[in-house]
Amino acid sequence: MNINLEVIPEKSYAGALAEEIVTVLGYAIEEKGYATFSLSGGSTPGKVYRRLSRPPFDKRIDWKKVYFIFGDERFVPKNDSNSNFRMVKETLLSSLEVDENKILGIDTSLSSCSDAAKNYDKLLKDSLDGKLKLDLVLLGLGTDGHTASIFPNSPFADKTLISEDLKTTPLVKECINPSDNSKRITLLPNILFSSNQVFFLVTGQGKNEILKEIAKGNKKVSEIPAKLSFDATAKVTWFADSVAAKDLD
Ligand code: 6PG
Repeated sequence: MNINLEVIPEKSYAGALAEEIVTVLGYAIEEKGYATFSLSGGSTPGKVYRRLSRPPFDKRIDWKKVYFIFGDERFVPKNDSNSNFRMVKETLLSSLEVDENKILGIDTSLSSCSDAAKNYDKLLKDSLDGKLKLDLVLLGLGTDGHTASIFPNSPFADKTLISEDLKTTPLVKECINPSDNSKRITLLPNILFSSNQVFFLVTGQGKNEILKEIAKGNKKVSEIPAKLSFDATAKVTWFADSVAAKDLD
């Protein structure tokens, strides 16, 4: 098995992940007085975010000390049904006592996707000066092996990018989702995988095949960008529910 896999019963997945998340963030807050938390988009994390927003997790840590960063975004208005910001706002941020100044969203109102990426790169470097080694990065897994918005055959599916300097090289770039040609903004391998911890959230029967390929196969990073995590300096944990992890002994 190539990965550090935690299999969690489907029914207790959201609560288990909420516990793992507040533990990591709580430790960072205790140690440094703040925590930096990169959020995944897509449909998987919603149930975990909702669980985090409810007791006991909504009061387990001082959420006002957490910086919320977005691992990727669709280049759509913030109120669009496809917006990751909207999903995170609805499932998590609207229910927690947070510091609005620490919610570092991607400005998708700018005139181009490229401008949005450049703007976010500057926002992260300005807002997180000296804090760019993130405490916790949540990532999802596409059935094609993408993670964040780093898709197969992307120029960013390149493990040599992980060691790129966080201050002087880009942290964010624009890209295209090849499955529907939609415009996206994504964090790059350097900030994602040089973080302290990465949690992959993988649930449902639809992810069983790709998870098996990652856990046991030998496809290249360019074919399965989530395998960038194999060269991460971060501690990487794959949290799969019992359905996604079926037959992964
Ligand atoms: C996004 C995500 C993306 C997602 C995977 C899995 O913006 O869509 O960041 O990387 O995590 O596509 O998506 P699901 O959770 O919907 O399966």
